[in-house]
Amino acid sequence: MTDVISPLDGSVVGKIQVVDNTEIDEAIKIAHREQKTWEDIPLIKRVKILHLAADWLREHEHYLSVLLIKEIGKTVAEAKDEVVRSADMIDYFANEALNLRGEELSGDAFPGYDKDKLALVERVPLGVILAIAPFNYPVNLSVSKIAPALALGNAVIFKPATQGSISALHMIEAFHKAGVPAGVLSALTGGGEEIGNYLVTHPGIDQISFTGSSDVGKEIATKAGMIPLLFECGGNNPALVLSDADLDLTSTEIVKGAFSYSGQRCTAIKYVLGLAPTIDALIPMVLDKTKKLIKMGDPRKEEMNLGPVISENAAINIEKRIVDAEEKGGEILTGGKREGYYIEPTVIDFGDKLPSVDLVKKETFGPVVSFIRVQNIADALEFINSSTYGLQASVFTKDEGTGIKVGQQINVGSVQLNNKPQRGPDHFPFLGIKSSGVGVQGIRYALEAYTRYKSIVFNKPQ
Ligand code: G3H
Repeated sequence: MTDVISPLDGSVVGKIQVVDNTEIDEAIKIAHREQKTWEDIPLIKRVKILHLAADWLREHEHYLSVLLIKEIGKTVAEAKDEVVRSADMIDYFANEALNLRGEELSGDAFPGYDKDKLALVERVPLGVILAIAPFNYPVNLSVSKIAPALALGNAVIFKPATQGSISALHMIEAFHKAGVPAGVLSALTGGGEEIGNYLVTHPGIDQISFTGSSDVGKEIATKAGMIPLLFECGGNNPALVLSDADLDLTSTEIVKGAFSYSGQRCTAIKYVLGLAPTIDALIPMVLDKTKKLIKMGDPRKEEMNLGPVISENAAINIEKRIVDAEEKGGEILTGGKREGYYIEPTVIDFGDKLPSVDLVKKETFGPVVSFIRVQNIADALEFINSSTYGLQASVFTKDEGTGIKVGQQINVGSVQLNNKPQRGPDHFPFLGIKSSGVGVQGIRYALEAYTRYKSIVFNKPQ
């Protein structure tokens, strides 16, 4: 058994089992058997079951929110939003599953063939999906994998992150209570280092859907072999502020983007670039809003909007990166201190030097944002595009035409004009390039990703 420790006070929230290899084998064997029956249930019935699961989540919103706050340190508003968003997401997945289509192709569109040849191209489930979820959205990012996979007739072996697993295990009840058979959706708990290797190399797994760090993503991809992968990995998202930007809006978005859920979102803003006069005008506004809008403290209190980071170790590592950045030329304008599990909202100014410190070059899962002055926009684009990450970026400008042109030159999955990076609305495509991910999520895109094409070719007898 492993203790799950609350970042609020270091207390034990609960204990989770570490499954052994025999139990993993058994769960995967049952999943294969049950998947066939599940796939044969009419789509409309599976969809109804998913709507019931969404209803269950709504009914248990308060209960799950309290758990999320305690287990992973979300604020009251963030926890509630995670549960409600998950229920809405399940409903949307269920509705959209009804619209997923295959196609029919006629041979006569290709030279040398005629209408005697006809392909019926169906979308069929992949089989048994291994869904590996992260600590920062134990309900929502788990639902984003489980719901589309189940809707289309797959079985799911679900492995939550240790921290977050208690919330996730309660969330799983929504599906079981709604009517998903136990063997179609099994939760297997244990640390990645304990059970991860066995799971990702298991021959019974037909697809891996993973959200987590880029390093772990690369490790899984190397081991997994020739099966489909759907990965959402790390992000190190820049905000590029052009000279004509609305700085009031920009500063608000930067504060929200950098500090919500203590910067522990793959879509958080990590660094801000612009010409010197723009950054000089922007920084005081960001500092002012950080002071006025961000209230750090026990997230059980409704007025707090910045809680602890997930563990003391995580906090220590963030602190080390801040110290390293300061030693290498960054000036801490506010924050920079650690108190136990808490990191103050931190703003660092790198002046006109393009920093090559870990804090800016690697994903730092904490409430820290850096400012960099560039000589021109081309330099900013070169710096952004030299990143090993490619999840999202923001461009702030009043001129949408320029925003689009600049956005087209940034190598990431999505560019937000005049907004912080974010995954939602959840039916938009969500993807990362380079070490930020593989494949596309977002309602319809995710549904497609949990199926494959299968064609039956009709040949008219000669
Ligand atoms: O941490 C990764 C999540 O996909 C971010 O989602 O933009 O809704 O916070 P979010």
